[in-house]
Amino acid sequence: MKLWKGRFKKEADPKTNDFNSSIAFDSRMYRQDIEGSIAHATMLGRQGIIDESESMKICVELGKIRDDLDSGALAIDPDAEDIHTFVEQELTARIGDAGKRLHTGRSRNDQVALDVRLTLREDCAGLKAQLKELLGVLCSKAEQYSSTVMPGYTHMQRAQPVTFGHHLMAYAEMLLRDISRFDDALRRMNICPLGCGALAGTTYPLDREMTAKLLDFTEPAQNSLDGVSDRDFCAEIAFVVSLCMVHLSRLCEELVLWCSWEFRFIELDDAYCTGSSIMPQKKNPDLAELIRGKSGRVFGDLMSLLTMMKGLPLAYNKDMQEDKEAVFDAVDTLKLCLTPLIPMLDTMRVREDTMRAAAAGGFINATDCADYLVSVKGMPFRDAYKVTGELVALCIEKNLTLETLPLEEYQTVCEAFDEGVYQAISLDKCVGDRKVLGGPAPENVKAQACRVRNILRNMEDSVWKS
Ligand code: ARG
Repeated sequence: MKLWKGRFKKEADPKTNDFNSSIAFDSRMYRQDIEGSIAHATMLGRQGIIDESESMKICVELGKIRDDLDSGALAIDPDAEDIHTFVEQELTARIGDAGKRLHTGRSRNDQVALDVRLTLREDCAGLKAQLKELLGVLCSKAEQYSSTVMPGYTHMQRAQPVTFGHHLMAYAEMLLRDISRFDDALRRMNICPLGCGALAGTTYPLDREMTAKLLDFTEPAQNSLDGVSDRDFCAEIAFVVSLCMVHLSRLCEELVLWCSWEFRFIELDDAYCTGSSIMPQKKNPDLAELIRGKSGRVFGDLMSLLTMMKGLPLAYNKDMQEDKEAVFDAVDTLKLCLTPLIPMLDTMRVREDTMRAAAAGGFINATDCADYLVSVKGMPFRDAYKVTGELVALCIEKNLTLETLPLEEYQTVCEAFDEGVYQAISLDKCVGDRKVLGGPAPENVKAQACRVRNILRNMEDSVWKS
């Protein structure tokens, strides 16, 4: 039955029921809907807008409805128009007239704006916890492989030597920024729309500060039209999730490359790979590929939200019912992706020997060879660069590396070379000397990991708590 049937002479066309209804995707908010209603009813009672005894009755019964929904004793009616309607009707069915007073000074418009905020607040807290766990794994791996030399790339060409730990810590920085973006978006989202009513507030003497406080919000929304029609927070969260998915997708792209036989830098645990139905030798990194692939749907969610909102006049319009599927899909997808990614990284096997061989084979110490001529032999960098380029060409011609090229050959290109060059271009030295802040030297990587662990330890769990 519809809440709004008084004005209507006809029942709604049953064929449009499903189209109009949001119960299929807003029932996940039943706990938050009830929490909001308990706060509203408590305030109505304390303000004398309804009897204290009725307020109490409403709150007690709402608690029972929540318990019955939790336990499965009560099922959500799939034909209800939305979760707000369902809870209110169930309440009225149970306690009669008192239930009918709950909606005093409230509209589903401020109610839904509240419920989505409460729900996202919890979902984002869960995501933050998962991101912290992922960061913990990255730090452990970085510490474990702090001196594992690997080629660093630009343009997908071997460029300069780094350490595997350093490479992993680059992702840690991205994820830290993601967490801080979540905090930032949540802080802005954390204002309470209850009391904005349908769009124009209400004539009842509501205490909006009280409901905001009861529900752990920073303050009530300052403009009733904005309070019911703002969905910036959905778009912001979808963006934060999108950017986080970009980071996960880049990491997964690297995992896919690294476990190919062309690279063989890592091996993923069997538990996170699948086989082929026809090629018996295959071990495919499906989960990493799926995470990379799922980024697309999340970007789609963000685009849906922006497009849905851009032409809406103030205040509430039914278009806004579309917010939930998009933003919930975004947060659910990130949660879904983080769940396998954490153990997949934790259990990966790192082939330090292959990484080192790749690092040794790509002339990635050529810059260091030029730097040797500059700092030990006093040659201007541009000249040293040219000499080293000629040496690389010579090595390629002779199928050698800078490490295996005999000293006489060095000297045919430039007489200044002596035995010291081999020490200067040793990969461990090349990496170990890159001690500049932010560089890949093993001691730096350990310090980076330690710094991130400290940040994680000092991080507040619930940013909306003041
Ligand atoms: N199911 C609706 C939504 O999700 C609730 C608000 C309905 N308000 C209205 N005036 N029809 O947006």
